[in-house]
Amino acid sequence: MPDFIENVRLSDDGKAVVILDQTQLPNRKVYLRLETAEDIYDAIYLLKVRGAPAIGICGAYGMYCLALQMRGKDKLEFDREFDRYKKYLMASRPTAVNLSWGLNRMEAVIKKHREENTEEICRHLREEALAIQREDVEMCRSISEYGLSLIRDGDGILTHCNAGPLATSRYGTALGPLLLGREKGMNFRVFADETRPLLQGARLTCYELQNAGVDVTLICDNMAGTVMKNGWVQACFVGCDRVAANGDTANKIGTSQVAILAAYYKIPFYVLGPTSTIDLECPSGDSIPVEIRDGREIKDKFYRESMAPLSVKCYNPAFDITDHSLISGIVTEYGICRPPYTDSLRMIFQKKGETR
Ligand code: MRU
Repeated sequence: MPDFIENVRLSDDGKAVVILDQTQLPNRKVYLRLETAEDIYDAIYLLKVRGAPAIGICGAYGMYCLALQMRGKDKLEFDREFDRYKKYLMASRPTAVNLSWGLNRMEAVIKKHREENTEEICRHLREEALAIQREDVEMCRSISEYGLSLIRDGDGILTHCNAGPLATSRYGTALGPLLLGREKGMNFRVFADETRPLLQGARLTCYELQNAGVDVTLICDNMAGTVMKNGWVQACFVGCDRVAANGDTANKIGTSQVAILAAYYKIPFYVLGPTSTIDLECPSGDSIPVEIRDGREIKDKFYRESMAPLSVKCYNPAFDITDHSLISGIVTEYGICRPPYTDSLRMIFQKKGETR
């Protein structure tokens, strides 16, 4: 595997969040320094930093940097401002539960150390943000190992959107087994859906897999059925933004169509994600909030001129819900959950040592 890309980190002076601007890939590698709450909100909303785990990490570092700027304030004001920033950042992208999960972990630090001064609290916040990122690296490695146990050398794998190192910290989730397998000398033939409208598959998945020496072929989203019919796909691997208690899963728009096709062609369809993406508070996909984005992303974002009448109405949901009945397994850092998910997802938290 080539040098891994650092997509989110603390700046060298420790006062800002540095991200690799994913909207510029694969053509330019541009790093951005985020200092204000607005910088962080915009970077997340505009998908400069994206992927469920990565926005959780960015949000956590962001809260630390904002807390650092408020060190001089009295305790009451510090807490009030912290809460305001937390709610503001949480609203930047509603679907991926990892963002609120990361922000809640930072808030829990404030509560735990409420007797200490703001200087000490900031030190704890820094440690927590670093821990969130460190744990993410370990969790990706573990998901990759479990995922690799599901496929064989030479298999064809279809993936949608980007759930690789750029979306996490290292290895990624859905791409993790493929990158780990490649490190072990295995060869896979990957089909990457381009993933309309923001092209995360074309721009990011192809970039990551090609750099790692994985055989990757780009297809348009509406070609998935054809490659499956041709017998070129032995498994589908996708990431997730939120998994409900019954196993219904939110992921990038178009994922559910891949799952429906896979069921038709009797191809196993796996969702790979950390336990921080499982939200047992959501009983089913019906209660997962789905982000609706600006219609201009469909009409003219990647074109020299608009590809539709400028005034045409657009419906641009960023995610869809894949019904649990279409999912062969949910691969977490603690093992592979199988249906019925209402039981297996709870059991995975027991394995983790948490009762839910
Ligand atoms: O809108 P995006 O690019 O943030 O959507 C990302 C996805 O849908 C990923 O599959 C998901 O976040 C998992 S990343 C490990």
